[in-house]
Amino acid sequence: MPESQAREIEILVRARYPLVYVVSWEEARVEDVLAAVARARSKKLFIWTVTDGLRPFNTPRGDEESRDPLVVLDRIVASKDQAVFVLKDFHPFLHDPQYATAVIRKLRDATFALKMSYKTIIIVSPVLRLPPELEKAITVVDFGLPTFEDMGALLDRIIESVKGNKQINTDLSPEERDKLLKAALGLTLAEAENVFARSIVERKCLDVDVVLLEKEQIIRKTEVLEYLRTETDVGSVGGLDLLKSWLGKRTRAFEESARQFGLPEPKGLLLLGVQGCGKSLTAKSIAHLWRLPLLKMDVGRIFAGLVGASEENMRKAIRIAESVAPCVLWIDEIEKGLSGVQSSSSSDAGTTARVFGTLLTWLQEKTAPVFVIATANDISQLPPELLRKGRFDDIFFVDLPGITERKEIFRIHLARRGRDVERFDLERLAAVSAGFSGAEIEQAVIAGMYDAFDKGAEVTTDDIVTAVQQTFPLCRTMAAEIDFLRRWAQNRARPSSSEPSEPLPDLGPEDYGIMMQPGVAEAAAAAYRAFEAERRATAVGPPDVEDEE
Ligand SMILES: Nc1ncnc2c1ncn2[C@@H]1O[C@H](COP(=O)(O)OP(=O)(O)O)[C@@H](O)[C@H]1O
Ligand SMILES: [Mg+2]
Repeated sequence: MPESQAREIEILVRARYPLVYVVSWEEARVEDVLAAVARARSKKLFIWTVTDGLRPFNTPRGDEESRDPLVVLDRIVASKDQAVFVLKDFHPFLHDPQYATAVIRKLRDATFALKMSYKTIIIVSPVLRLPPELEKAITVVDFGLPTFEDMGALLDRIIESVKGNKQINTDLSPEERDKLLKAALGLTLAEAENVFARSIVERKCLDVDVVLLEKEQIIRKTEVLEYLRTETDVGSVGGLDLLKSWLGKRTRAFEESARQFGLPEPKGLLLLGVQGCGKSLTAKSIAHLWRLPLLKMDVGRIFAGLVGASEENMRKAIRIAESVAPCVLWIDEIEKGLSGVQSSSSSDAGTTARVFGTLLTWLQEKTAPVFVIATANDISQLPPELLRKGRFDDIFFVDLPGITERKEIFRIHLARRGRDVERFDLERLAAVSAGFSGAEIEQAVIAGMYDAFDKGAEVTTDDIVTAVQQTFPLCRTMAAEIDFLRRWAQNRARPSSSEPSEPLPDLGPEDYGIMMQPGVAEAAAAAYRAFEAERRATAVGPPDVEDEE
């Protein structure tokens, strides 16, 4: 029995909250908990479904008339019982064009009546979608996934049920049992039961790999999270020594020994900075470094659902991540999904703000060992709340690589493509590629290799130098943006590298529109200066990072 949820619901029932909305796919588990709560409070328990109508718990179907969603509400209001009423198929009627208006009205009136009584209505639904009229009247309870103990009980039941069968080996050492149950966390009880059964049928034993594979499938199906299996290790990231050392020191941070030592679990990091300099790469490498599963949240997908479903998507993603914990949750380009938060004029800004609020609250309060690594390229799109203390352990700024870092990045990408690094003049490559991002260095290596391949020769330093010289790097086309980013980061974020930033090309008007027609560049530069002036006057106040709420 998930103690905490039973307690939460019991508190609501005792405090006479009239209307509770429990979000869960697991009706059976919710019913068990509610039965226990009703018993503990000496209340009757009634169940309503659209096919069986209203009936006392554990009895066959009720009368036909009570199948109507309006009739059942009348019955509840009229009932003299001290009772908990569980409505199972009710949520569609909150949105059904034919019923919604009357159902919502009746619920609101019922809320008022129920406050004076000892009755509670509990709507159980797999999705959270409330009509705005009811948002204030309803209390939402997120019914988490089964706990380790729940899984253990299920496993015992399954082992017991196949005991007589000599062909099936259900022997598990305590360590194997522990692994198996941990692997099953994140599944619903019904899913876990299927997976265990499948392993017994296919392998004649309880195999943790079957469970892990199935879990990946299930997480994939949710479409809001992706279970990544990456071999990216810290060795494939060039430079960024300070960031790497921060991460390296926390390699054993999720182990019991760290708790014994008195250390808290790390919460997460925000990586801000210039595009193509290794933020996503580093994020991917953490899971490998710490040997934890890696989940990637697609912020775009969170918002892609039906109206109102985005909130449920976010909650679902959080729930799954917590059930897989300890794990790394990677939110790439977080600003992309959250850019609507500030512009209240946009029509779904309310939704965006609520979804973002859910994420922020969780970042602030989460206790499950989920390490959140968020990346962002464009800080102007980033809601300032995200930068406040308490959300992340630290904010790192990832700048263009310095000269020694570029050497390392060239080395990595040449070696990755099977080249003997000793044959190349890395000093020279690093010198000519001043201002290049890691991604641009990689592209130059590839372009140089194509040139050589085309000539039918082995690639040389010269080929790559030529490719570098033919590249228009970001630091020229976006010098102003990068400069802005650097100045912004100065007192708000930690540097990722101990190498000082190199100066950008002079920011003359011609640099602002290097790719544009003559004349257009002039206008663009003027517009940018105006924008800069306004930004300086408004946006740059005391650093948000230092703010306490
Ligand atoms: N510091 C780096 N070391 C090695 N490769 C890098 C580095 N930075 C970027 N790259 C190369 O460029 C690609 C894109 O970098 P990415 O990490 O996605 O940049 P961003 O900072 O925009 O997230 C990487 O997959 C990698 O191949
Ligand atoms: Mg990226």
